[in-house]
Amino acid sequence: MQQNPPVDNERYRRFIEQIDNLPALPAIVTRLIQVVNSPDTSADDAAKLIQKDPALTTKMLRLANSAFYGIPRSISSVSSAVVILGFNTIRSLVLSASVMKMFSTSREPAIDKDCFWKHSITCAIAAKSIVRQFISVRMMDPESAFCAGMLHDIGKLIFSEFAQEDYSEVCSFARKNGKSLLEAEKEILGISHTDIGRILADKWALPLDLEYALVFHHEPMKADSLIDLVTTVHVANTLSHAIGMGLWENETVTPEWDEARSILRMGESDYEHLLKSLTESIDKSREFIDIIK
Ligand SMILES: [Fe+2]
Ligand SMILES: [Fe+2]
Repeated sequence: MQQNPPVDNERYRRFIEQIDNLPALPAIVTRLIQVVNSPDTSADDAAKLIQKDPALTTKMLRLANSAFYGIPRSISSVSSAVVILGFNTIRSLVLSASVMKMFSTSREPAIDKDCFWKHSITCAIAAKSIVRQFISVRMMDPESAFCAGMLHDIGKLIFSEFAQEDYSEVCSFARKNGKSLLEAEKEILGISHTDIGRILADKWALPLDLEYALVFHHEPMKADSLIDLVTTVHVANTLSHAIGMGLWENETVTPEWDEARSILRMGESDYEHLLKSLTESIDKSREFIDIIK
């Protein structure tokens, strides 16, 4: 085993300075998140806002008509798409699409972005399935879990974009030493992708459920609320890795919390069943990524 490199404080400071230059979310996305979170919002309010952005309008309609959602009739208006897909799906769509766009310019990212988004979408699908099967939908919207799953590791993308060299070193250290990225980040940079999640949630004023998923998906036991949601994303993350959707082959995963499945009231056969259906959904998930990017 290689010796652990010491934490480089200078590097940590430089990174924190750089992260201050993170781009703001596009105004339309911020507005849409506010609109979607407001209890008084109607589908028409959201549709009017989406229609101001032609690219978003096209993505929305393509998604509503895609096999991913499998709606049998053709949907031609944005307001119908909003009604059918629901506000939380819109939140997933606009946030994922704008984050993808924001980070689509990096010429030499430290991580394979295709693998990153495949991991994210399988985690999102798994999170949605967990809510549908094990948590009352009255307690949590499955689409809210989908959105949390889709964005849970966004801190890795920030590292990859803003600290390419440093993060390449983190990745190769993790690979060579069989460590999880979370451990390698803490050891080398002194800051993890979940810490970045907290900074990002603050900077972008993300809703609380997303913030908690970004910050606590590896340590749900530390969350002081929304325990069902963070545990859902935690187990969904394990499931995604279990079907081989990591950033590289045999990526070491942080261990699953002993109590996670009992909190979700999930038995061994339930877990196996989820694994099987997740494997079957890989093709459909490709379509979701193709539409939003
Ligand atoms: Fe993570
Ligand atoms: Fe993950």
